[in-house]
Amino acid sequence: MISLDRLKTVPYEKIRSAGAVGFAFPVYGADMPLIVSRLLERMDPTAGGFRDKPAFVLTTAGYADAYGPFEAGKTMRKHGFRLVAYVNVRVSINISLPGGKAAFPSAAVMKRRLERGEKALDRLAGKLTEGKRHITNAGPNLLPGAMIRKATKKRQEEQYQALSVDSTRCIRCMSCVRDCPTESIIFKDGDFTFMPSCTACFRCYNFCPAFAVLINGRYAAPEGYERYQGPESLK
Ligand SMILES: Cc1cc2nc3c(=O)[nH]c(=O)nc-3n(C[C@H](O)[C@H](O)[C@H](O)COP(=O)(O)O)c2cc1C
Ligand code: SF4
Ligand code: SF4
Repeated sequence: MISLDRLKTVPYEKIRSAGAVGFAFPVYGADMPLIVSRLLERMDPTAGGFRDKPAFVLTTAGYADAYGPFEAGKTMRKHGFRLVAYVNVRVSINISLPGGKAAFPSAAVMKRRLERGEKALDRLAGKLTEGKRHITNAGPNLLPGAMIRKATKKRQEEQYQALSVDSTRCIRCMSCVRDCPTESIIFKDGDFTFMPSCTACFRCYNFCPAFAVLINGRYAAPEGYERYQGPESLK
């Protein structure tokens, strides 16, 4: 397994030698996160020595999967892969924005979702081992997905412009800089700069111990708006 965090070069050798390649990512705006689509854009199947390589896609979603196998299949084809399996697992939304209450599931609901997810993964592994296609989650109809993608893509690309740090609250622990999956936070001469390479994952916002990361100059007070820090953080 290769994490896309800080992946510098396309792992062509691994792709070439694998029987099938899997892509696992959270659905953002009924689409792949930018970190995944940007990697695919950099891939050249001809230079990489693969064409029609079998691929499976595993996605997670907070509410509902408006991405789905049709869109995944199209994207895979465009980049030299052939979709052989698609599975979506519902987990939790990961943002609580100032002014909007996030509906996090309870720990009990999350436990059920994860159990369901594990079973779905077992089924996926079984089918892949048998060499069978396994396309699930026909999903909601394609129109909402297309509309959501159109409405949110630009916002995700411009997310870095909305982020800033409240220097009065920041304790200079630098965990945001260290843990940003795309190395998009630069700290220089006492100032934080967010770069266009940001993938809009909200890790910096959700994990800042001082709640100092702002979105559009605002932050959600932790007393009223919890931060999602993975399934274990739910009560
Ligand atoms: C920018 C952004 C866009 C998102 N768009 C969607 C969406 O369109 N549909 C949805 O169900 N969840 C959406 N989510 C929620 C994530 O899909 C969800 O939190 C994620 O799957 C959690 O999985 P993880 O814990 O593996 O990151 C979005 C989250 C972010 C940060
Ligand atoms: S994680 Fe928060 S407190 Fe730590 S350096 Fe970043 S903004 Fe400051
Ligand atoms: S939202 Fe924050 S942690 Fe995530 S990529 Fe952008 S700058 Fe990095």
